[in-house]
Amino acid sequence: MYLQRRNRITRKSAAARALVAETILTPNDFIVPLFIDEGKNNKTEIASMPGYFRNSLDITVMEVKELWSMGLKSILLFVKAADNVKDNTGKESWNPDGLMQRAVKEIKNAVPEMLVMTDVALDPYSIYGHDGIVDVEKGTILNDETVEALTLMSLSHAEAGVDFIAPSDMMDGRIGAFRKALEENGYTDTGIMSYSAKYASCFYGPFRDALDSAPGFGDKKTYQMNYANRIEAINETLQDVEQGADIVMVKPAMAYLDIIREVKNAVTVPVSAYHVSGEYAMIKAAAEKGWLDEDKAIIESLTSIKRAGADLIATYFAKQAVDMLIS
Ligand code: PBG
Repeated sequence: MYLQRRNRITRKSAAARALVAETILTPNDFIVPLFIDEGKNNKTEIASMPGYFRNSLDITVMEVKELWSMGLKSILLFVKAADNVKDNTGKESWNPDGLMQRAVKEIKNAVPEMLVMTDVALDPYSIYGHDGIVDVEKGTILNDETVEALTLMSLSHAEAGVDFIAPSDMMDGRIGAFRKALEENGYTDTGIMSYSAKYASCFYGPFRDALDSAPGFGDKKTYQMNYANRIEAINETLQDVEQGADIVMVKPAMAYLDIIREVKNAVTVPVSAYHVSGEYAMIKAAAEKGWLDEDKAIIESLTSIKRAGADLIATYFAKQAVDMLIS
Protein backbone atom coordinates (compact mmCIF):
# COMPACT_ATOMS: atom_id res chain seq x y z
CA MET A 1 0.00 0.00 0.00
CA TYR A 2 0.99 3.59 -0.49
CA LEU A 3 -0.44 5.66 2.36
CA GLN A 4 -0.08 9.39 2.76
CA ARG A 5 -0.72 9.09 6.49
CA ARG A 6 0.10 6.24 8.83
CA ASN A 7 -1.55 6.95 12.18
CA ARG A 8 0.32 4.12 13.87
CA ILE A 9 3.65 5.97 13.65
CA THR A 10 2.93 8.04 16.77
CA ARG A 11 1.83 4.87 18.60
CA LYS A 12 4.84 2.73 17.72
CA SER A 13 6.70 2.86 21.03
CA ALA A 14 6.17 3.91 24.60
CA ALA A 15 8.34 6.97 23.98
CA ALA A 16 6.33 7.99 20.92
CA ARG A 17 3.05 7.51 22.79
CA ALA A 18 4.32 9.54 25.75
CA LEU A 19 5.47 12.32 23.40
CA VAL A 20 2.00 12.82 21.94
CA ALA A 21 -0.12 12.03 25.02
CA GLU A 22 -2.75 14.75 25.42
CA THR A 23 -3.82 13.97 28.98
CA ILE A 24 -1.43 13.42 31.86
CA LEU A 25 -2.53 12.83 35.43
CA THR A 26 -0.66 14.51 38.25
CA PRO A 27 -1.17 14.48 42.04
CA ASN A 28 -2.42 18.08 41.72
CA ASP A 29 -5.51 16.80 39.93
CA PHE A 30 -6.90 14.94 42.92
CA ILE A 31 -9.15 15.78 45.83
CA VAL A 32 -9.18 13.07 48.50
CA PRO A 33 -12.54 12.42 50.20
CA LEU A 34 -12.18 11.49 53.89
CA PHE A 35 -14.81 9.98 56.19
CA ILE A 36 -14.48 11.03 59.82
CA ASP A 37 -15.92 9.37 62.90
CA GLU A 38 -16.24 10.33 66.57
CA GLY A 39 -13.99 8.56 69.08
CA LYS A 40 -10.29 7.88 69.32
CA ASN A 41 -8.01 5.45 67.59
CA ASN A 42 -10.75 3.82 65.56
CA LYS A 43 -10.64 2.78 61.96
CA THR A 44 -13.65 1.14 60.32
CA GLU A 45 -13.46 -0.38 56.86
CA ILE A 46 -16.56 0.45 54.82
CA ALA A 47 -18.16 -2.83 53.82
CA SER A 48 -19.08 -1.76 50.31
CA MET A 49 -15.78 0.13 49.80
CA PRO A 50 -13.04 -2.43 50.48
CA GLY A 51 -9.74 -0.75 51.34
CA TYR A 52 -11.46 2.52 52.33
CA PHE A 53 -11.98 3.55 55.93
CA ARG A 54 -13.90 5.85 58.21
CA ASN A 55 -11.43 7.09 60.82
CA SER A 56 -11.55 8.93 64.10
CA LEU A 57 -10.07 12.40 64.01
CA ASP A 58 -6.68 11.46 65.52
CA ILE A 59 -6.15 8.86 62.79
CA THR A 60 -7.49 11.25 60.16
CA VAL A 61 -4.83 13.80 61.12
CA MET A 62 -2.10 11.15 60.63
CA GLU A 63 -3.66 10.24 57.30
CA VAL A 64 -3.67 13.89 56.20
CA LYS A 65 0.05 14.16 57.01
CA GLU A 66 0.70 11.10 54.88
CA LEU A 67 -1.39 12.49 52.00
CA TRP A 68 0.55 15.74 52.11
CA SER A 69 3.86 13.86 52.06
CA MET A 70 2.64 12.01 48.95
CA GLY A 71 1.96 15.27 47.13
CA LEU A 72 -1.81 15.22 47.60
CA LYS A 73 -2.81 18.76 48.42
CA SER A 74 -6.57 18.84 48.87
CA ILE A 75 -9.08 16.89 50.90
CA LEU A 76 -12.87 16.83 51.10
CA LEU A 77 -14.28 16.07 54.53
CA PHE A 78 -17.42 14.13 55.44
CA VAL A 79 -18.47 13.29 58.98
CA LYS A 80 -20.60 10.54 60.46
CA ALA A 81 -22.70 12.31 63.04
CA ALA A 82 -23.74 10.39 66.15
CA ASP A 83 -27.37 9.22 66.14
CA ASN A 84 -28.26 11.31 69.19
CA VAL A 85 -27.43 14.62 67.45
CA LYS A 86 -29.59 13.94 64.39
CA ASP A 87 -32.90 15.80 64.05
CA ASN A 88 -34.99 17.54 61.41
CA THR A 89 -33.40 21.00 61.78
CA GLY A 90 -29.78 20.04 61.11
CA LYS A 91 -28.68 22.28 63.98
CA GLU A 92 -25.73 20.04 64.85
CA SER A 93 -24.31 21.00 61.46
CA TRP A 94 -23.50 24.51 62.70
CA ASN A 95 -22.40 23.52 66.20
CA PRO A 96 -19.02 25.27 66.63
CA ASP A 97 -17.80 22.22 68.55
CA GLY A 98 -19.28 19.70 66.11
CA LEU A 99 -17.15 16.96 64.60
CA MET A 100 -16.72 18.78 61.28
CA GLN A 101 -15.70 22.05 62.90
CA ARG A 102 -13.20 20.26 65.18
CA ALA A 103 -11.87 18.32 62.20
CA VAL A 104 -11.21 21.45 60.15
CA LYS A 105 -9.39 23.13 63.03
CA GLU A 106 -7.25 20.13 63.95
CA ILE A 107 -6.31 19.36 60.38
CA LYS A 108 -5.47 22.98 59.58
CA ASN A 109 -3.41 23.10 62.75
CA ALA A 110 -1.48 19.95 61.89
CA VAL A 111 -1.01 20.56 58.13
CA PRO A 112 -1.72 24.24 57.51
CA GLU A 113 -0.99 24.12 53.79
CA MET A 114 -3.41 21.30 53.05
CA LEU A 115 -6.42 22.66 51.14
CA VAL A 116 -9.44 21.64 53.20
CA MET A 117 -12.91 21.36 51.71
CA THR A 118 -16.07 20.41 53.59
CA ASP A 119 -19.31 18.82 52.46
CA VAL A 120 -22.30 21.08 53.02
CA ALA A 121 -25.64 19.22 53.17
CA LEU A 122 -27.85 18.02 56.00
CA ASP A 123 -27.93 14.28 55.31
CA PRO A 124 -25.41 13.19 57.99
CA TYR A 125 -27.42 15.22 60.52
CA SER A 126 -30.93 14.38 59.36
CA ILE A 127 -33.05 11.75 61.09
CA TYR A 128 -34.56 11.23 57.65
CA GLY A 129 -31.24 10.93 55.79
CA HIS A 130 -32.25 13.76 53.49
CA ASP A 131 -30.04 16.64 52.40
CA GLY A 132 -32.60 19.16 53.61
CA ILE A 133 -35.32 19.84 56.15
CA VAL A 134 -38.35 17.62 55.69
CA ASP A 135 -41.96 18.81 55.70
CA VAL A 136 -43.10 15.79 57.63
CA GLU A 137 -46.79 16.08 56.72
CA LYS A 138 -46.21 16.43 53.02
CA GLY A 139 -43.08 14.28 52.84
CA THR A 140 -41.31 16.99 50.84
CA ILE A 141 -37.96 18.75 51.25
CA LEU A 142 -38.24 22.45 52.13
CA ASN A 143 -35.97 24.49 49.89
CA ASP A 144 -35.74 27.91 51.51
CA GLU A 145 -35.64 26.69 55.12
CA THR A 146 -32.87 24.28 54.11
CA VAL A 147 -30.85 27.06 52.49
CA GLU A 148 -31.12 29.04 55.73
CA ALA A 149 -29.82 26.09 57.75
CA LEU A 150 -27.04 25.41 55.25
CA THR A 151 -26.01 29.07 55.36
CA LEU A 152 -25.40 28.72 59.11
CA MET A 153 -23.52 25.49 58.43
CA SER A 154 -21.36 27.20 55.79
CA LEU A 155 -20.54 30.10 58.10
CA SER A 156 -19.52 27.74 60.87
CA HIS A 157 -17.17 25.91 58.48
CA ALA A 158 -15.72 29.25 57.41
CA GLU A 159 -15.28 30.21 61.05
CA ALA A 160 -13.43 26.92 61.66
CA GLY A 161 -11.05 27.84 58.85
CA VAL A 162 -12.13 25.80 55.84
CA ASP A 163 -10.66 26.74 52.45
CA PHE A 164 -13.64 25.71 50.33
CA ILE A 165 -17.15 24.77 51.30
CA ALA A 166 -18.57 22.13 48.98
CA PRO A 167 -22.38 22.27 48.92
CA SER A 168 -23.77 18.92 47.74
CA ASP A 169 -27.43 19.52 48.63
CA MET A 170 -28.83 20.76 45.29
CA MET A 171 -31.29 23.26 46.82
CA ASP A 172 -32.16 26.23 44.63
CA GLY A 173 -30.42 29.53 45.31
CA ARG A 174 -27.91 28.18 47.80
CA ILE A 175 -24.72 29.37 46.18
CA GLY A 176 -25.87 32.99 46.10
CA ALA A 177 -27.05 32.78 49.71
CA PHE A 178 -23.75 31.30 50.91
CA ARG A 179 -21.65 33.81 48.98
CA LYS A 180 -23.65 36.71 50.38
CA ALA A 181 -23.33 35.40 53.94
CA LEU A 182 -19.58 34.81 53.54
CA GLU A 183 -19.12 38.35 52.22
CA GLU A 184 -21.27 39.91 54.93
CA ASN A 185 -19.37 38.10 57.65
CA GLY A 186 -15.90 38.93 56.38
CA TYR A 187 -15.00 35.48 55.04
CA THR A 188 -13.69 36.94 51.83
CA ASP A 189 -11.20 34.17 51.10
CA THR A 190 -13.48 31.19 51.64
CA GLY A 191 -14.14 29.45 48.34
CA ILE A 192 -17.19 27.60 47.09
CA MET A 193 -16.89 24.37 45.13
CA SER A 194 -20.46 23.76 44.09
CA TYR A 195 -21.85 20.35 43.27
CA SER A 196 -23.60 21.98 40.34
CA ALA A 197 -24.68 19.07 38.18
CA LYS A 198 -25.36 16.42 40.75
CA TYR A 199 -27.51 13.59 39.48
CA ALA A 200 -29.87 11.35 41.47
CA SER A 201 -27.64 8.31 41.10
CA CYS A 202 -27.55 4.74 42.38
CA PHE A 203 -23.77 5.07 42.41
CA TYR A 204 -23.86 6.85 45.79
CA GLY A 205 -24.98 3.65 47.57
CA PRO A 206 -21.65 2.75 49.23
CA PHE A 207 -21.17 6.35 50.45
CA ARG A 208 -24.47 6.16 52.29
CA ASP A 209 -23.17 2.98 53.99
CA ALA A 210 -20.05 4.89 54.99
CA LEU A 211 -22.01 7.65 56.75
CA ASP A 212 -25.14 5.70 57.59
CA SER A 213 -27.06 8.38 55.69
CA ALA A 214 -29.42 6.54 53.33
CA PRO A 215 -32.78 8.33 52.97
CA GLY A 216 -35.29 6.94 55.44
CA PHE A 217 -38.17 7.49 53.05
CA GLY A 218 -38.43 8.23 49.36
CA ASP A 219 -35.43 9.21 47.29
CA LYS A 220 -33.51 12.36 46.35
CA LYS A 221 -35.12 12.89 42.95
CA THR A 222 -36.88 16.14 43.90
CA TYR A 223 -33.53 17.87 44.36
CA GLN A 224 -30.83 15.87 42.57
CA MET A 225 -31.05 15.87 38.77
CA ASN A 226 -32.63 13.32 36.46
CA TYR A 227 -29.88 11.39 34.70
CA ALA A 228 -31.89 11.56 31.49
CA ASN A 229 -31.11 15.27 31.25
CA ARG A 230 -28.20 17.17 29.73
CA ILE A 231 -29.28 20.77 29.18
CA GLU A 232 -30.37 21.07 32.80
CA ALA A 233 -26.74 20.47 33.81
CA ILE A 234 -25.65 23.53 31.86
CA ASN A 235 -28.45 25.57 33.38
CA GLU A 236 -27.57 24.56 36.95
CA THR A 237 -23.87 25.17 36.36
CA LEU A 238 -24.24 28.59 34.76
CA GLN A 239 -26.50 29.68 37.62
CA ASP A 240 -23.94 28.53 40.19
CA VAL A 241 -21.18 30.45 38.43
CA GLU A 242 -23.41 33.51 38.27
CA GLN A 243 -24.14 33.17 42.00
CA GLY A 244 -20.45 33.03 42.87
CA ALA A 245 -19.17 29.44 42.67
CA ASP A 246 -15.37 29.32 42.32
CA ILE A 247 -15.33 25.71 41.12
CA VAL A 248 -18.23 23.72 39.71
CA MET A 249 -18.72 19.97 39.75
CA VAL A 250 -20.28 17.16 37.79
CA LYS A 251 -21.19 14.05 39.75
CA PRO A 252 -20.92 11.05 39.23
CA ALA A 253 -18.13 10.89 36.65
CA MET A 254 -17.81 7.77 34.51
CA ALA A 255 -21.40 7.58 33.30
CA TYR A 256 -21.45 11.38 32.85
CA LEU A 257 -18.38 12.08 30.71
CA ASP A 258 -20.57 13.84 28.13
CA ILE A 259 -21.83 16.20 30.83
CA ILE A 260 -18.29 16.92 32.04
CA ARG A 261 -17.32 17.89 28.49
CA GLU A 262 -20.35 20.10 27.96
CA VAL A 263 -19.93 21.83 31.28
CA LYS A 264 -16.22 22.35 30.58
CA ASN A 265 -17.12 23.99 27.27
CA ALA A 266 -19.78 26.18 28.87
CA VAL A 267 -17.91 27.76 31.79
CA THR A 268 -14.63 29.54 32.43
CA VAL A 269 -14.19 28.41 36.05
CA PRO A 270 -12.41 25.15 36.95
CA VAL A 271 -14.55 22.02 36.58
CA SER A 272 -14.29 19.14 39.01
CA ALA A 273 -15.75 15.68 38.68
CA TYR A 274 -16.59 13.30 41.51
CA HIS A 275 -15.59 9.71 40.83
CA VAL A 276 -18.07 8.45 43.40
CA SER A 277 -18.26 5.58 45.86
CA GLY A 278 -20.15 3.21 43.54
CA GLU A 279 -17.59 3.75 40.83
CA TYR A 280 -14.89 2.83 43.34
CA ALA A 281 -16.86 -0.22 44.45
CA MET A 282 -17.36 -1.47 40.89
CA ILE A 283 -13.66 -1.47 40.11
CA LYS A 284 -12.78 -3.02 43.47
CA ALA A 285 -15.37 -5.78 43.09
CA ALA A 286 -14.38 -6.68 39.55
CA ALA A 287 -10.70 -6.67 40.51
CA GLU A 288 -11.38 -8.85 43.54
CA LYS A 289 -12.98 -11.42 41.25
CA GLY A 290 -9.99 -11.24 38.93
CA TRP A 291 -12.17 -9.82 36.15
CA LEU A 292 -10.38 -6.49 35.77
CA ASP A 293 -6.80 -5.34 36.32
CA GLU A 294 -7.38 -2.89 39.18
CA ASP A 295 -4.41 -0.61 38.55
CA LYS A 296 -5.13 -0.29 34.86
CA ALA A 297 -8.84 0.29 35.45
CA ILE A 298 -8.02 3.10 37.91
CA ILE A 299 -5.63 4.95 35.63
CA GLU A 300 -7.82 4.52 32.55
CA SER A 301 -10.89 5.78 34.42
CA LEU A 302 -9.16 8.82 35.90
CA THR A 303 -7.43 9.71 32.64
CA SER A 304 -10.76 9.49 30.82
CA ILE A 305 -12.43 11.78 33.34
CA LYS A 306 -9.65 14.32 32.89
CA ARG A 307 -9.76 13.95 29.09
CA ALA A 308 -13.50 14.61 29.20
CA GLY A 309 -12.74 18.03 30.69
CA ALA A 310 -12.35 17.67 34.45
CA ASP A 311 -9.65 19.95 35.84
CA LEU A 312 -9.96 18.27 39.24
CA ILE A 313 -11.14 14.84 40.29
CA ALA A 314 -12.46 13.86 43.70
CA THR A 315 -11.62 10.17 43.95
CA TYR A 316 -11.20 7.42 46.53
CA PHE A 317 -8.37 6.13 44.33
CA ALA A 318 -6.17 9.23 44.80
CA LYS A 319 -3.52 7.47 46.90
CA GLN A 320 -3.38 4.41 44.68
CA ALA A 321 -3.19 6.61 41.60
CA VAL A 322 -0.36 8.73 43.00
CA ASP A 323 1.58 5.58 43.93
CA MET A 324 1.30 4.47 40.32
CA LEU A 325 2.17 7.86 38.85
CA ILE A 326 5.35 7.95 40.92
CA SER A 327 6.52 4.36 40.41
C1 PBG B 1 -24.34 14.10 50.54
C2 PBG B 1 -23.37 13.55 49.57
C3 PBG B 1 -23.45 12.33 48.89
C4 PBG B 1 -22.25 12.17 48.20
C5 PBG B 1 -21.47 13.30 48.46
N1 PBG B 1 -22.19 14.15 49.30
C6 PBG B 1 -24.53 11.32 48.90
C7 PBG B 1 -25.86 11.66 48.42
O1 PBG B 1 -26.10 12.71 47.82
O2 PBG B 1 -26.74 10.85 48.68
C8 PBG B 1 -21.89 10.97 47.38
C9 PBG B 1 -20.43 10.64 47.28
C10 PBG B 1 -20.13 9.28 46.81
O3 PBG B 1 -21.01 8.46 46.48
O4 PBG B 1 -18.93 8.98 46.73
N2 PBG B 1 -25.12 15.14 50.13
